[in-house]
Amino acid sequence: MYSAKRIIKPVMKLTGGGLVLLLAGCGMGMDDATDYGARDFSSNGEQIYFTGRNQTGSAITYLGGTMHAQMHNRTCASCHGDDRQGQRLYPKFWVVAPPLTKHSLTEEHDDGHGDHERYDKNSLKLAISQGLDPAGSALNGAMPRWNISDSDMEDLVSFLLTDIH
Ligand code: HEC
Repeated sequence: MYSAKRIIKPVMKLTGGGLVLLLAGCGMGMDDATDYGARDFSSNGEQIYFTGRNQTGSAITYLGGTMHAQMHNRTCASCHGDDRQGQRLYPKFWVVAPPLTKHSLTEEHDDGHGDHERYDKNSLKLAISQGLDPAGSALNGAMPRWNISDSDMEDLVSFLLTDIH
């Protein structure tokens, strides 16, 4: 005869795992730092983009942002995507977090997101900390205004201005 324990244990394991995936999928209550915890980041800037924490473990903080930011634990990746290709936000699906590839930031491109002038290091820093585009116009409030130390900002911006592949 099979013992009940033998059957229940694996089933518990399975559903336990399923539940975690489900929660992560909804972006509720899960810490992105945990999601990406197993990954090795090649730079401090990349780590901040994915986890919202620098390599010494300090979290970057922000002002503003929407419910989306709260639900998705404030990482750049949660709104702008793992591959930095941008995406629509939930629940405000009409708001789009634009792509943040080197190409879309600094070259002619057509991502359907306005016609911003090309970004350089300084204007990128202003976009991230003050929410201003290169022409000095305010970005949509769905983009949080970030509090980042100078050196973390430098690393983050260098990461954004590096090609992904
Ligand atoms: C809650 C979602 C959200 C998060 C988190 C977020 N952003 Fe954004 N971001 C946006 C949205 C939405 C816009 C577009 C604003 C607009 O269209 O005016 C934007 C715009 C930008 C822009 C301007 C791009 C352009 O094409 O003009 C930059 C640069 C940027 N974000 C960088 C970052 C960085 C770096 C982080 C992490 C530190 C980050 N964002 C986190 C939603 C987000």
